[in-house]
Amino acid sequence: MSGTPGDSILVTGALGQIGRDLVEALRDKHGQDSVIASDVREVENHPFVEEGRFVRLSVLDGDAMDSVIEDEDVGTIYHLAAILSATGEQNPDLCERVNVGGTITVLEAARRHDLRVYSPSSIAVFGPDAPATAPQITPLNPTTTYGKTKVTGEVMVMNYWKQYGVDTRGIRYPGLVSWKSPAGGGTTDYAVEIFHAALNKGHYDCFVGPETRLPMMYMDDAIRATLELMDAPTESIGDARGGYNVSGISFTAKELADAISERVDGFTCEFKPDHRQEYADSWPDAVDDSVAKDDWGWKAEYDLTRMVDEMLDRLSN
Ligand code: NAD
Ligand code: SER
Repeated sequence: MSGTPGDSILVTGALGQIGRDLVEALRDKHGQDSVIASDVREVENHPFVEEGRFVRLSVLDGDAMDSVIEDEDVGTIYHLAAILSATGEQNPDLCERVNVGGTITVLEAARRHDLRVYSPSSIAVFGPDAPATAPQITPLNPTTTYGKTKVTGEVMVMNYWKQYGVDTRGIRYPGLVSWKSPAGGGTTDYAVEIFHAALNKGHYDCFVGPETRLPMMYMDDAIRATLELMDAPTESIGDARGGYNVSGISFTAKELADAISERVDGFTCEFKPDHRQEYADSWPDAVDDSVAKDDWGWKAEYDLTRMVDEMLDRLSN
């Protein structure tokens, strides 16, 4: 196995919601040819499949990942491939296989090839017993399979750092709101879908109740957090490296719908909670990100007003 880390960056699950923005940001920062987008699927007319370096790669195929790392001179992996909460609770076996199995494949490859790894966690690591504003350190008792796989991921990330010195880092992303790509089967997808529905149909049936409050973040903040964490010097990264809390915006579904109604004439929203309400109810309202602030200087820039203005502006154009 190669012991010399390369210069290229491999992004797994690159055709998903975060990959759509992260690959572009990484290419802007490191150069178009330095970033290899990969995913288990191919999407017709997707910019990453049509242009730039793209490989079809399952994170469950360790041999194929070894080949890509060696052939493409990979030095860092941004590991985004996963099954999110709503899809995962419908298919818990697949969720465990991809989220835990895929992370093992990536960490093992990183150990053998001396790579750096970014492996995101989620606010889904918290369970109903967490305080409404979840601190960095609190018992993690998620009730969803997805949340359990994320806790396992954090533990593995920490173990590979402690046992093998693999430079692994992660963020507990809040629900992410973005316009370039649809959301990928999570419970927080309503906060993306509502914008498309408002502009296309003037109406949205929201699958969580009006008072559902969750930690959320605009994608630009999430991408900046990711890049800042990966740029931070090793000595500033502490025991939260498996999953730093980062706070963005905490709003209820009704507050979001009201903010859109103020800007889109005639927009209506009806609240029709389904099975995803239970997952949302098991998560905190907000997170305390003082450890990320202290360790690597994290600070969000988007509030609800700025996010809604920008989402509507971007999607209208
Ligand atoms: P997404 O569902 O939009 O994209 C995931 C991608 O992984 C998809 O393109 C899918 O095709 C791919 N994939 C699935 N199985 C694969 C496999 N076996 N091999 C390779 N690729 C595979 O997810 P996302 O929103 O981009 O999330 C990325 C990461 O961020 C995940 O770890 C997720 O848990 C975490 N996260 C996301 C959010 C959010 O709101 N988007 C919030 C918290 C945490
Ligand atoms: N947005 C993600 C989900 O809802 C949280 O990790 O699954």
